[in-house]
Amino acid sequence: MKKSWFAVLAAGAIAITAYVGEAPAQQGKVDLATTTKTMNAIFSKAPEAWKAKIVQDETQKACTTYRNSPPPAVAEQISEREKKNVVLPADGKFLGDWKTGERLAQSGYGGRHTDDPKRVMGGNCYACHQLSKKEVSFGTMGPSLLEYGKIRKYKPEDAKAAYIKIYNAQAVFPCSNMPRLGHNKHLTEQQIKDIVALLFDPESPVNK
Ligand code: HEC
Repeated sequence: MKKSWFAVLAAGAIAITAYVGEAPAQQGKVDLATTTKTMNAIFSKAPEAWKAKIVQDETQKACTTYRNSPPPAVAEQISEREKKNVVLPADGKFLGDWKTGERLAQSGYGGRHTDDPKRVMGGNCYACHQLSKKEVSFGTMGPSLLEYGKIRKYKPEDAKAAYIKIYNAQAVFPCSNMPRLGHNKHLTEQQIKDIVALLFDPESPVNK
């Protein structure tokens, strides 16, 4: 009896040692050639339009290589590159119509192969964020945005920062899980303004 318990403990200790020994290797850099080959194999019979979606840009390649935890120098390169492609509104205004913004935040339409590209696409913000006290259906991958404008005292420079965040999340947080909605042409300038108004209008459900 004693002996078998010892055997179990010993086996456990070996397993733990093996696991600890494995851990650093598991967290090492990802080999891009392997991931690309695997992705191409999975989608080999997919229509050309789908195949175009799995081609990574420099930022996505860097994020894959470092499993979304880039070392500081790489993170710096990513945010520098992404900041350069943010296009600010020519009229210098960042606030649109919050009611349209709320509809866009609720809608996840667009980007799926069954979606009509001529229809208005949504921002899908509620999929990852809480934005109003009334809406009970929201995701929690991103932080709650309740009272986002109120907390920031509706400061214009914070509305501008929110515009940049929505336009290109990676310019602010390298390897963010948040989509680059302006950069990817998923949302237009006016639509981003409408969503910024949702965050920064005192009358919107975000701040009520
Ligand atoms: C797929 C999930 C996802 C979607 C969709 C998404 N976000 Fe995010 N968002 C995140 C995550 C994760 C973070 C935290 C990391 C970061 O800052 O990038 C974040 C951060 C933010 C921040 C910064 C919060 C802070 O602490 O200041 C804002 C503002 C924001 N999101 C707004 C939006 C808006 C508006 C939309 C819709 C247009 C949206 N997000 C869509 C995942 C998402």
